[in-house]
Amino acid sequence: MKMNSLNNLLAHEIKDLYSAEEQIIEALPQMIEKAQNQELKRTLNEHLKITEQQKKRLDKVQKLLEESGASIEEEDTVCLGMQGLIEEGQKIMNEDMEPEVMDAAITAAAQKIEHYEISAYGTACAYARELKLKEVEKLLQQTLDEEYEADGLLTELAVGGLNVEAESGEEEDISVRKIPEGRKKGRTAARKTASRSNASGNGSAKKSAKSTRTSKSSSARKTTSRSKTAKAKKSRAR
Ligand SMILES: [Fe+2]
Repeated sequence: MKMNSLNNLLAHEIKDLYSAEEQIIEALPQMIEKAQNQELKRTLNEHLKITEQQKKRLDKVQKLLEESGASIEEEDTVCLGMQGLIEEGQKIMNEDMEPEVMDAAITAAAQKIEHYEISAYGTACAYARELKLKEVEKLLQQTLDEEYEADGLLTELAVGGLNVEAESGEEEDISVRKIPEGRKKGRTAARKTASRSNASGNGSAKKSAKSTRTSKSSSARKTTSRSKTAKAKKSRAR
């Protein structure tokens, strides 16, 4: 099909996102099963439920686009970007790893997925805004906010303990130092956290170069001091 308008391009992106969400719904249960850390399991489980809602939201978006005169492609689209990210995640999960290292790997794989979605939903939102499709924009923004929030929660888990556990090979009680602050502050906090990503290749479209520089160095400092503490604990135990 010839895509000769932004409206049609948006319709194509929505089909692609629909495929991405379907693939995530299929992949998440395996990640949940492999995760050892209870907080990580819970976070992924919550996101699975949210993803099911996001897929339904895309059905509404597609209907609205049809009403606006966009041509919807008949054939199914497979989101190849998501397919690659999921395959990469499955490959790493099949490696032989200590449970703590596996948790760090699963978190990183989940964040790569979130970053892809943040980028794709961000673009789709911008198209809807340009096309003055207010309802479509609102629905897409809702999902975009949820993706930022999920990414923020994963970052809190990673820098709040999982990465340290993976480094020291010991399980820390991260339920003590986990995320309530971030959760209480809600979406804004999650967005800020997203720009302070665990993953160095953060796909957040909203981050500024300055905040990234500052936050990366402060995360690095925190991680270093935590790992020193974990190592000290370990050597005391010997
Ligand atoms: Fe999603």
